[in-house]
Amino acid sequence: MVYLNGEFMPVERAKISVLDRGFIFGDGVYEVIPVYSRRPFRLQEHLARLQSSLDMIRIGNPHSSAKWSEVIGKIIADNPWSDQNVYLQITRGAAKRDHAFPKDLKPTVFIMANELIHPTPELMQSGAAAIVLPDFRWLRCDIKSTSLLGNCMLRTQAADAGCAEAILVRDGLLTEASASNVFIVRNGTVLTPPKSHLILPGITYDVVLEILRANAIAHEVRLVAESELRSADEVWVTSSSREVLPITTLDGKPVGRGEAAGKPGPVAQRVYDLYQQFKASVMRAPTHA
Ligand SMILES: Cc1ncc(COP(=O)(O)O)c(C=O)c1O
Repeated sequence: MVYLNGEFMPVERAKISVLDRGFIFGDGVYEVIPVYSRRPFRLQEHLARLQSSLDMIRIGNPHSSAKWSEVIGKIIADNPWSDQNVYLQITRGAAKRDHAFPKDLKPTVFIMANELIHPTPELMQSGAAAIVLPDFRWLRCDIKSTSLLGNCMLRTQAADAGCAEAILVRDGLLTEASASNVFIVRNGTVLTPPKSHLILPGITYDVVLEILRANAIAHEVRLVAESELRSADEVWVTSSSREVLPITTLDGKPVGRGEAAGKPGPVAQRVYDLYQQFKASVMRAPTHA
């Protein structure tokens, strides 16, 4: 079951206009919300980021927070899996093709769910391969826009190289990855770039920073040089679907030094375990975060 503009229906029945600005211009925003045991994780934070993306491209929010929770709750209930990824997208709506935003359009609202595939224990043990690529995307990566051609091109280049992710650098500095944020560890300190127009403010990024603070794990949010990335002891990517995934090779070279090279590091393992505990505690709570 999917949701389109107020109605629940099978995906085959969901149809939109070819003049929809989402189709013509990629003029829309989206969210992906992980659902564990049929409970959405960090829903209010996802809805707050959605509001901020909508504000930045001047689309009025078609629903209140309560309405979003209700509709998302129904999609979760109407789909067969206990753990799901809820994808929602809002486009500006259909209009005669013209670049400038037309006023007073009725936004198109679409929601679907898919089974949430967890990273396998084998992948967590081996870690994943990544390549480092120049970040040629636009300068508003803070908007969670459906215009993802740059991200798709970069991820395809990674896949062509047999890698799970493309880690991106701009002007000699780490930004993020094609569909995740990036953390590195150097000499026992976790480093990640600050939020800016150059990265998506990840919900998982925030959870990981909360975990680091709560457990007094040394960390700094600061600009990270490409040279620091390439000589890091550990590299991880974070996202709602990948959680905390260690990267163990960069451009085919093992991450880290000596015995530990090419294996997930101790800080990644600790933060991964703490993330699982955090998720479990939140999902057990009567009203969850
Ligand atoms: C470009 C990019 N950065 C970061 C993230 C991580 O965001 P979140 O933790 O909210 O899933 C994503 C998620 O899809 C992304 O596409």
